[in-house]
Amino acid sequence: MNITYFGHSCFGIEVNGKHILFDPFISPNELASTIDVTTVKADYILVSHGHEDHIADLVSIAKRTNAKIVCNWEISVWLNKQGISNTHPMNIGGKWKFEFGDVKCVVAVHSSSMPDGSYGGNPMGFIIESDRENFYYAGDTALTYDMKLIGDYRKVDFAFLPIGNNFTMGVDNAIIAAEFIKCTKIIGMHYDTFENIKIEKDLAIKKFNNAGNELILFEVGEVKKVTK
Ligand code: NI
Ligand code: MN
Repeated sequence: MNITYFGHSCFGIEVNGKHILFDPFISPNELASTIDVTTVKADYILVSHGHEDHIADLVSIAKRTNAKIVCNWEISVWLNKQGISNTHPMNIGGKWKFEFGDVKCVVAVHSSSMPDGSYGGNPMGFIIESDRENFYYAGDTALTYDMKLIGDYRKVDFAFLPIGNNFTMGVDNAIIAAEFIKCTKIIGMHYDTFENIKIEKDLAIKKFNNAGNELILFEVGEVKKVTK
């Protein structure tokens, strides 16, 4: 699958010819100043939770692209109030067949509130199953034993895990998460954007390698093909 990194936890992924965008936070991100947010493609936008650093550009991209937004119930209601009706609300444990593949919502141990302070429901992660690859997008989360369920549920070919620490798990816990989900190909996210989530990237890659895993880190704007 072709994956484009837009900084922080925002990725664009082409699945069966559809552009899936995750957690759009681009225009306030100094590290993503090279990205023109008005050119970002989206047929679907998957939103893990309501925090600003995951939805800053959600409304503008949704209005421009008319992408369908997959998110929890509470974020869906909030979007409806912003004039966005093309939403597909889900909740943890639920699975739905979309035209690009299946989405299953899984537990994320974190919090969720909207930028205006309204209730953001529970944070979620997503498992995407397609006829080619399956992958897990963890959102913002701590390491949790629930991740073992993912490892038992499906063969996950690659996984997006937060590695920045402070607000989410850091590198050491993400290595344990990789073991729980039985996946050796990890794409790091939610690091370096803010002072309190800066990491030593070379050390992180070395630690993952020592544990028998591959840690893939993108430059902002970079496109990589990631397969099984
Ligand atoms: Ni968050
Ligand atoms: Mn976050």
